[in-house]
Amino acid sequence: MPVHTQDAQKQMAAARALELVSSGMKVGLGTGSTAAYFVDLLAERARSGLDIICVPTSEATRERATRAGLHVATLDEVPRLDLTVDGADEVDHELRLIKGGGGALLREKIVAYASARMVVIADRSKLVKTLGAFPLPIEVVPFGLAATRIAIEAEAARLGLVGRIELRKDNSGQVFHTDSGNFILDAAFGAILDPVALSSRLGDIPGIVEHGLFIGIARGAIIAGGDDLAILGSLD
Ligand code: A5P
Repeated sequence: MPVHTQDAQKQMAAARALELVSSGMKVGLGTGSTAAYFVDLLAERARSGLDIICVPTSEATRERATRAGLHVATLDEVPRLDLTVDGADEVDHELRLIKGGGGALLREKIVAYASARMVVIADRSKLVKTLGAFPLPIEVVPFGLAATRIAIEAEAARLGLVGRIELRKDNSGQVFHTDSGNFILDAAFGAILDPVALSSRLGDIPGIVEHGLFIGIARGAIIAGGDDLAILGSLD
């Protein structure tokens, strides 16, 4: 029985998502290594005649899609999309996600929300019983960073969630800036037993621009395992 590498699994999931795209569609393009496979496969299809308009969720994806020859537009030019395909850092069985490992969670959420359907593509390692082993990315404005961090700690503690909250740095040790010029706090709370309650509490903190809990946004997920694909929810 063939056992696919993690990269091969990502590619398998991306290839399955490609079947959801047809000419005339407006498609949101996710960010990250799994979404990159989808962008490349989509570009291949576009070169052989698939006629679509794409809206990327990050500057990195915009560059990749443009270089690959896809017809790229902004969300302002195309404010309603048929489908967005994106990766995730964690997916649970209720299609709740943690996203933002690549720092693109704000645009990813805006683009997904503007789409009739969002489908997640992921390798099996992303499927979890309970969200939270992956630290939750929270995008915050630079102003009042210390106060925002204290507010996050306090709100999380009211739900019994305690853990390190780290300001994200880039590979050269500089503070990471998102495409919108904000910072990311990575909150290592551990198991988030009530993501809905946490999402709501974080939503009340003024310094938070957006957080990486995606709840009620994904319609379906394509999860690639050792040698098969599992579908969660619906792809239609
Ligand atoms: C980007 O900000 C994230 O939300 C990505 O979708 C997520 O980190 C998954 O990335 P990989 O496909 O590279 O694991």
